[in-house]
Amino acid sequence: MGKLKVPHIVVIGSLNMDIVIEANRHPQLGETILGSNARFIPGGKGANQAVAAARLGAKTTMIGAVGTDSFGQELLKALDDNKISRNSVKLVDGTATGIASIFISNGDNSIVVVPGANYQLLPDDIDRYDAIIQNADILLLQLEIPLDTVIHAAKKAKSFGKTVVLNPAPAQFLPDELLRNVDYITPNRSELSLLTGIQAEGDELETAMTSIIQRGANNVVTTLGADGSAFLEKGKLQKVPGYKVSVVDTTGAGDSFNAGLAFSLAKQNSLEQSVSFAAKVSALAVTKFGAQAGMPSMKDVEVFAKNSKGEPT
Ligand code: RIB
Repeated sequence: MGKLKVPHIVVIGSLNMDIVIEANRHPQLGETILGSNARFIPGGKGANQAVAAARLGAKTTMIGAVGTDSFGQELLKALDDNKISRNSVKLVDGTATGIASIFISNGDNSIVVVPGANYQLLPDDIDRYDAIIQNADILLLQLEIPLDTVIHAAKKAKSFGKTVVLNPAPAQFLPDELLRNVDYITPNRSELSLLTGIQAEGDELETAMTSIIQRGANNVVTTLGADGSAFLEKGKLQKVPGYKVSVVDTTGAGDSFNAGLAFSLAKQNSLEQSVSFAAKVSALAVTKFGAQAGMPSMKDVEVFAKNSKGEPT
């Protein structure tokens, strides 16, 4: 990956303590089963994307909110460990740090997030960080903080002439006012279906992606799980295949993809190059346990690219 400048990525988003329970199958509704493992691991889509960007070599700044409890302290330490600037993470008294209850079986997961302090990150808070946003190459957003804050941050970044990447997860319907201020939106297939009201399967994938552009986003990249990803180039659907890897844990796969995409775009690579780079980052991320622990370094990505000769296996 060329271009010398170290990109500055600013992430405005969530920090959660992930309570990860492993078992050999998901329980049925109303059923109790025995699990094999329970762990407390730093997570949250915002913090995961920040960690992934920092591991790739970006200068990374996190804007978010945690409680004054011990989970909040642990999440801040995880940012420190990854050399992420976190003076702009607000400490909220009287509200618990965000928690994600994650159930994993056979490499797949289901997640319930209780946002807690993440929902105390308000539009006014963003106004305190104008200088940080003005200094960013890319602003990276997700939807685990209040939607008003996301809209405010996207509008502000665009008014400063910045590039905005929005990972619309967890899925929710979004107003055109937000889409008009987004340069790259990165739904997975189900998020795209919910955003557009179009079942994004087969030929309808292109229709759904086109409708997002018509509503105001500049670019759309859809992640398709094992089928790779798709983007629109001059209105035409282009696909980038995924990589066959031994999946250990898919938690944070989308986060690693978004960080990889943002990092590569900040290096001024083309959209196709950036989607292809992001595919490698997320292929590596799912081979390790834990959202943040699995995020690869640039060296890891380079070795992977060499061994797979840049081609999906
Ligand atoms: O994308 C994975 C993340 O979603 C987890 O780390 C969890 O905190 C939830 O926010």
